[in-house]
Amino acid sequence: MPGQPLPVIMDCDTGVDDALALLLAVRHPGLDLRAVTCVAGNTDVDGVVRNTLTVLEQAGAGDIPVARGAERPLLEPVRPARHVHGIDGMGDLGLPAPTRAPAAVDAVTLLRREILASPRPVTLIPTAPLTNIALLLRTHPEVTRNIERIVFMGGAVATGNATPVAEFNVWHDPEAAAILLTAGVPVTMYGLDVFQRVVVPGAEVHRLRRSDEPGARLAGELLAHRPTAQGGPPEAEEAGGLGDAGAVCAVADPQSITTRLLPVEVSLAPGPSRGQTVVDRRPRPGESEIHQGRREQALVDVALEVDVDRCVRLYLETVGAG
Ligand code: BDR
Ligand code: CA
Repeated sequence: MPGQPLPVIMDCDTGVDDALALLLAVRHPGLDLRAVTCVAGNTDVDGVVRNTLTVLEQAGAGDIPVARGAERPLLEPVRPARHVHGIDGMGDLGLPAPTRAPAAVDAVTLLRREILASPRPVTLIPTAPLTNIALLLRTHPEVTRNIERIVFMGGAVATGNATPVAEFNVWHDPEAAAILLTAGVPVTMYGLDVFQRVVVPGAEVHRLRRSDEPGARLAGELLAHRPTAQGGPPEAEEAGGLGDAGAVCAVADPQSITTRLLPVEVSLAPGPSRGQTVVDRRPRPGESEIHQGRREQALVDVALEVDVDRCVRLYLETVGAG
């Protein structure tokens, strides 16, 4: 149905950049954010629920259903990223506590309900470890009939962040990521290769921080908590990466990224490669296929390029217009 906003559901570990992503999803006229589910990742799941509710209230979207999900990965222990996201998981900005409680149902139940109730197939946007999504796919596989595609922030073609080769969301729950990749629905991987490139210039962050509009001001404060520039004038130092919000840009404006359908596999073996997304970019089969035959592998639309200016413009026009 052209002209109708796209139904989307986000699964987050809010998270400074998850908060930036929520602000965009709430405000973009082409998106209809139907629910948000929470999972342990950047901080503990109760902190994620609190942060998510607060962000939605600040954005004037306090009626979107929010549900609490998994408190730990399928096999791994919780390994929060407080050194990046602060003690409260959202930059320790001193934001007010939310005024409402989460939904009375768990994340998997809310995901199932909202996906099956949607009049149009839903696009899922996980920006967190994939525990909730894996539990959903294993508990209610029938949901795939009403999922358009899953655009997840996670993985890396080249270099990792949690380890030299593994990106945090996949590393935090590798088994869950493997379940997602083999879900049998179209999957787009918005990995570190593009994630790290989308940076909002310091002057724009400076402007957002001085906005009278609470959502835009919050975006500015969050971006300032994701510094990328070092040295130079004070305004340049305020530059901040959009992070997870880039995955929402890629849904709102698919032309902002260039993807290629490639075989991707999550390394589940213990040791230095655990959590790596092994992306096969070879132009032709190699000796392993010649001698052992082809193995079945998930084909994933992998984001290889991003139009940084286009993405930043979309964010500022949507969130920073206030
Ligand atoms: C991912 O991990 C978290 O720190 C961010 O929110 C993002 O989803 C990047 O590796
Ligand atoms: Ca995240």
